[in-house]
Amino acid sequence: MSKVFIMDHPLIQHKVSRLRCTDTGSKEFRELVREISQLMCYEATRELPLEDYELETPIGTAVGKRIAGKNLSIVPILRAGLGMVDGMLDLVPTAKVGHIGLYRDPETLQPVEYYCKLPQDIQERDLFVLDPMLATGGSAVAAVQFIKDKGAKNINFLCLIAAPEGLKTLQDAHPDVNIYVACLDEKLNDHGYIVPGLGDAGDRLFGTK
Ligand code: PRP
Ligand code: URA
Repeated sequence: MSKVFIMDHPLIQHKVSRLRCTDTGSKEFRELVREISQLMCYEATRELPLEDYELETPIGTAVGKRIAGKNLSIVPILRAGLGMVDGMLDLVPTAKVGHIGLYRDPETLQPVEYYCKLPQDIQERDLFVLDPMLATGGSAVAAVQFIKDKGAKNINFLCLIAAPEGLKTLQDAHPDVNIYVACLDEKLNDHGYIVPGLGDAGDRLFGTK
């Protein structure tokens, strides 16, 4: 079964609460998503393997550490996942960025794919799939399946708010994926929105609606 990490850091809890507020406008919303993504990136990269290398300091030689293997890749799910990209790149600026375009059909709640562009060597990289909202889990399950179909193996999923239903669906479909959640909420409503959630993440990020 996949490992689920619920972030309990006070800074994350504080910032997610601001994110939820109806009176938080798009500018502050974007800033908060970026900051929370940075903090989550710090936690989600904790297990990355390191290798030793020799370096010169002004005084002598030292054995340094660097991330082993290929750099990682981040894969935002369009559109709302875009809001998390800069926070990740702030800490891992050399990461390659793939994109998966999905939207949730408002009637059926099923994910509909409209775009997919991934780094060619994706199978050699540690992947971090980004989407602020894990609601029914349909979009996350489909996105992870796309990248698995391209050969990806080491996959992590990062979201800001999850519903228990979506978390279970993602775990059941992809038990090998580690899931990082800033806040686990109560439930979904009849329209597939997370309660209490924050509303429509894409609309709040980009000021649509
Ligand atoms: C939102 C969100 C997720 C999805 C979650 O995207 O960003 O991708 O819904 O719902 P699910 O877990 O039930 O699949 P949306 O479809 O609203 O598209 P957008 O990002 O373009 O606004
Ligand atoms: N997508 C969102 O943006 N918000 C929700 O609560 C559910 C799906």
